[in-house]
Amino acid sequence: MTAKSPAQKKSEGLLRRHFKGDASEVMNKINASIDVDQRLYAQDIASSKAHCQMLVAQCVLSPSDGEAIESGLDAVCAEIEAGKMKFDPALEDIHMHVEARLTELIGEPGKRLHTARSRNDQVATDFRLWVREALDGLDRAFNDLHAVLIDLAGDHVNTVMPGFTHSQPAQPVTFAHYLMAYVEMFGRDRDRIKDARARLNECPLGAAALAGTSFNIDREMTASALGFDRPTANSIDSVSDRDFALEALSVSAIAAVHLSRLAEELVLWSSPAFAMVRLPDAFSTGSSIMPQKRNPDAAELVRGKTGRIIGSLNSLLMTMKGLSLAYAKDLQEDKEPTFDSLDTLLLCGQAMAGMIGGLEVDKERMRLLAGAGYSTATDLADWLVRVGGLAFRDAYNSVAALVRLAKDRDCALEDLPLVEMQKIEPCVTESVFEVLSLDKSVASRASQGGTAQVRVREALIAAKARYL
Ligand code: ARG
Repeated sequence: MTAKSPAQKKSEGLLRRHFKGDASEVMNKINASIDVDQRLYAQDIASSKAHCQMLVAQCVLSPSDGEAIESGLDAVCAEIEAGKMKFDPALEDIHMHVEARLTELIGEPGKRLHTARSRNDQVATDFRLWVREALDGLDRAFNDLHAVLIDLAGDHVNTVMPGFTHSQPAQPVTFAHYLMAYVEMFGRDRDRIKDARARLNECPLGAAALAGTSFNIDREMTASALGFDRPTANSIDSVSDRDFALEALSVSAIAAVHLSRLAEELVLWSSPAFAMVRLPDAFSTGSSIMPQKRNPDAAELVRGKTGRIIGSLNSLLMTMKGLSLAYAKDLQEDKEPTFDSLDTLLLCGQAMAGMIGGLEVDKERMRLLAGAGYSTATDLADWLVRVGGLAFRDAYNSVAALVRLAKDRDCALEDLPLVEMQKIEPCVTESVFEVLSLDKSVASRASQGGTAQVRVREALIAAKARYL
């Protein structure tokens, strides 16, 4: 028999007193979560302190035990932060590590901390605290992203670019209007973060293992000490619910999809074929073989990491599916995908803000591409309806014929001679040329939410007031 590690002995003292046999090494390996959940140490210590203060206030613990526990927890925290804590799989998780080390440091009072709680309500509380902080961090990152997008949009209210449908040039739009589409998307993401945070903000501590406790605890007190709005209502739900993590993962998956669409466009538009934008040096990479290359790796990784983020949501949904109430160890699998997804999304948001913040925009190139592909054909049809009195479908057919003619002659619509146009559509007059220009086309789309400069300036003011 191999000698037992000190952590194994501690774990047996804490959790395995009723067993004759030792845990196998493989059991320790599959059971341990310390490699993953050690990052919950600050939340575990904060919730332990709140629990301890409440037990003292309720006369469940003596004030002197309370003081010993609190200063002991500070000492454990300092050890972990100094990298001095020895983590060992035999002690399973962060909760057992903190409690075991506390008891080692302060003796008897340490053993009283776990009165009226269980690791089940403890982990649910710690994890909620972590997810809450992560959501707040994400909101800050998306606020930064909003700021750079709105700032760039402000510089490009008059920059005309091709607007696409089906990836084909459709109608000219302004670059500001395009950027403001993403401002809307990230605005909805931030709303979802806020909603998820509001629902998350209830405190499970005091639910104990699943049924509540026989001690006279004050759950309002622990909830408010930890910044929660209220205690959770049902002890069984408290320890088995992971909706807060699922919501954070759903919000993250949707936000990642938004980032990845923008990333895809940066990849395309920075390629020499489009050459509408240039990514900053700080967010571009070189090739090991082709010295001329300027690769958009950060944008590609934002796009690529979206797969992982969506996968994390699926992973936890699958873990939860069909899980009977209340706590089961399956729930320990909640942290890895959640940590990974929220960390990854934060990084992607920061990378995107960096790319947008340093983006160089080639206005001339955008304008050139905006004029390609007969992008003002709809303006011509609208003119025929408005001035010529045609039904829209008749106007559409005449313009289709004019586009065919222009294609045959390999020229733009506005380069067709008036007489040739009149052969196809007799009501056309000289004034039609006014609507065929890119600037007129853009300025004419002044309907609510449209791309005209007047509307985009209003949208910018509204977005600044709402998001910054
Ligand atoms: N490490 C566990 C987790 O993350 C803590 C809760 C353990 N509870 C239990 N009864 N074994 O879920």
